[in-house]
Amino acid sequence: MHWTKSFVAAIAGCALSLSIGTLAPTASAQASAPTSLAEAGKDQPTGSEWWRHAVIYEIYPRSFQDSNGDGVGDIKGITARLDYLHDLGIDAIWITPMYPSPGIDYGYDISDYTAIDPEYGTMADFDNLVAEAKKRDIRVIMDYVINHTSDQNKWFLESRSSRDNPKRDWYVWRDGKGETATDKGQPPNNWQSWFGHSAWQWDEKTRQYYYHYFYVQQPDLNWRNPDVHKAMDGVLDFWMKRGVAGFRIDAVSRLYEDPNLHDDPYLSGRNAYGDRNIQHKYTDDLPQVHDVLKEVRSVVDKYPGDPVLVTEADEPNVQALSKMYGNGDEVQLPMDFQIADVNELSAPRFRELFNQIENNSAHGQPEYFFSNHDQPRQWDRYGDGVHNDQIAKLMAVLELTTRGTPQMYYGEELGMRTTDPARIEDVHDPIGKLGWPKEKGRDGERTPMQWTSSQEAGFTTATKPWLPIPPSASKYNVEAESKNPNSILNTYKELLALRKSEPALRDGVQISIGNDSDVFAYLRRSRDESIIVLLNMSSKEKVFAFRPGDVQLNDSSTLRPLYSSTRVGESISPAHVVLPPFAAVVAKAQ
Ligand code: NOJ
Repeated sequence: MHWTKSFVAAIAGCALSLSIGTLAPTASAQASAPTSLAEAGKDQPTGSEWWRHAVIYEIYPRSFQDSNGDGVGDIKGITARLDYLHDLGIDAIWITPMYPSPGIDYGYDISDYTAIDPEYGTMADFDNLVAEAKKRDIRVIMDYVINHTSDQNKWFLESRSSRDNPKRDWYVWRDGKGETATDKGQPPNNWQSWFGHSAWQWDEKTRQYYYHYFYVQQPDLNWRNPDVHKAMDGVLDFWMKRGVAGFRIDAVSRLYEDPNLHDDPYLSGRNAYGDRNIQHKYTDDLPQVHDVLKEVRSVVDKYPGDPVLVTEADEPNVQALSKMYGNGDEVQLPMDFQIADVNELSAPRFRELFNQIENNSAHGQPEYFFSNHDQPRQWDRYGDGVHNDQIAKLMAVLELTTRGTPQMYYGEELGMRTTDPARIEDVHDPIGKLGWPKEKGRDGERTPMQWTSSQEAGFTTATKPWLPIPPSASKYNVEAESKNPNSILNTYKELLALRKSEPALRDGVQISIGNDSDVFAYLRRSRDESIIVLLNMSSKEKVFAFRPGDVQLNDSSTLRPLYSSTRVGESISPAHVVLPPFAAVVAKAQ
């Protein structure tokens, strides 16, 4: 519900109002907040740094729009939907891999880095997509899968062909333990694949094991070999020359392994695949990762347009995350998995984590997301089973009004939900077969985009899309939601437009207000404007009162609402803001 008019009427008669000119945080807010108001605006974008105030939209190409009726999304389909993306208000699309691939990991097993998989179209289709996107001010970010290739990549085929092949050392080959001429022995150590079981695969032809952090069909590249650097830098050059705006770098913390092959320590319990739990101590986050990030940055920085690097790295804390920025010479946008995975509506937890990242030692730009192609959708993860739509709007406000670069996942703007396969026979993602029923795989968050309420949701003309259309598509779809001013889609549109029109929401500092256990409140402040965001993360009605210490009050100022997800009543006063369950309010002090 958009209630701007009623709120303005309500505060017009208020004796108590907010003073924007003297708005200042309390001592408590300052203690936990990173930046004082005096410094407001010091982090304003310089030069073209477009990525600081961009909103990135992740597209899973198999599932976005099918243009040729084969049940699988494709490049022409994405191009056909650029107007939708432009109207929505996004600035860049990150497309997950569209390179030739056997498809074991649905594109993350690449057999040729400098071509387009015919399933998705041609290079001409790709060039046309970049050109059409540019016309609409939309940048294209590619996925750079750097840790591993497909076992069908010609580099690996050569590498596995003989022990003295020049590309043998492009991958990680080791002898087994206790291996003899007739016995393959045991894997070199206890390292485990993220996708279950040993990370070592025996290769009978050359009688050695190769290392794979992910599926058996995804052998790890050996980043200790300079020729691998040259080849992978060439991949970056290839796509930069085609006009892409940067890369999302896949699984970057897994690039190096301990050369002495120490066993990883075991943890208690077992995973969904029945393996003992393990700490990936000797295969994650080795310091050399940062040399590679610097190198990638220096390659892309040869090109104009301020190319962006986004990293997928599920770092365990803000200190580890901050290292990804380097000294401003690594990546601009490390994805913040800490915040993505709070997985409960907890005001204290969000307050703590947002304060931490605001205060990051590298002064880097945060990158926020709540859904992607690897984890259940936010509608389910944050919903309480009763108020999910309301909570979806609250999460949209959180994502789009905090200081950072938001990254959306296709369909989150509709309230798309996770729709897991019901039977093991229907599972596509191999981990879903291996771990069933504990681990059902990632099909549930990759279902086709819901454009219309028709049987195939406007995604395809095929009778059988590659993944089934979720039943929720009949109600949650672009066509229906566009017509409903209260829909989740229109909430996103409204918030995205606000980000563009309000400098404080794009670039202003962020300062937490108060310590309420249910309400996450914060101030966004740029040189000449202050915006307050109030998020009631509980199922109780809450009354939020700005204390004189939180903000200075006087009689001449007002608080003007910009957005609210719900009617908050007629009796609003800055000293007494009534917030219904899961209400989200964005208001401007003036
Ligand atoms: C991270 C990607 O997001 C995921 O989908 C993939 O399975 C792994 N990396 C391996 O490439």
